[in-house]
Amino acid sequence: MVRVLGVLGSPRQGGNTDLLLDETLRGAAEAGAEVEKVVLDQLTIRPCTACEGCRDGVRCILDDDMGPLYGKVEVADVIVLASPVYFDAVSAQAKAFIDRCQLFWFRKYVLKVPGRARGSAFISVGARVRTEFDGLEATARALFYTLDAMPCHTLTFAGFEEAGSIEDHPDALAQARQLGARLAAEAGERNRF
Ligand SMILES: Cc1cc2nc3c(=O)[nH]c(=O)nc-3n(C[C@H](O)[C@H](O)[C@H](O)COP(=O)(O)O)c2cc1C
Repeated sequence: MVRVLGVLGSPRQGGNTDLLLDETLRGAAEAGAEVEKVVLDQLTIRPCTACEGCRDGVRCILDDDMGPLYGKVEVADVIVLASPVYFDAVSAQAKAFIDRCQLFWFRKYVLKVPGRARGSAFISVGARVRTEFDGLEATARALFYTLDAMPCHTLTFAGFEEAGSIEDHPDALAQARQLGARLAAEAGERNRF
């Protein structure tokens, strides 16, 4: 069974990235995957303190809601991160989650523990019509390289400000649903070998 973990970095439930993430997870579920969604804003995830307490690649010494999330990331075959654009960057909720994945960075790059190939996607929405997503995508890729989840599919939309306004786009939600189906299918193929 393919496991898809959706991580929402927006505090706006029913907002644009939330709707897109839901559709992506729906597409994955329709393709037979087991899906789970985590809303970062409902959790307490402190920023990384660079204490190197996770050097063992096993646990972070900060005792908060990231603890159980490490296990979910670990077993996921596909990780989908959805974040709005905040000051041309990912949201603080998303960035705290990414930085706390430093544990996986130590595991991969310092301890040289071989990883398992997985799938990934990054979803984002910005209000400004000329929003540039390059910086956000680079941040997402840095995470997904660390998680052995490359290449990263991206789905980004510029010019949507109000919560839910992404529904006015002719096919954004359909694109998200197709992305979910594709992620599930690709992961199914990977898991066969
Ligand atoms: C704190 C904050 C900062 C924002 N900064 C930007 C920005 O730099 N560029 C942009 O295009 N939109 C920016 N926006 C608008 C959001 O990206 C936009 O409303 C988006 O649709 C929100 O997604 P959501 O509905 O999933 O939360 C900002 C919104 C907030 C609340």
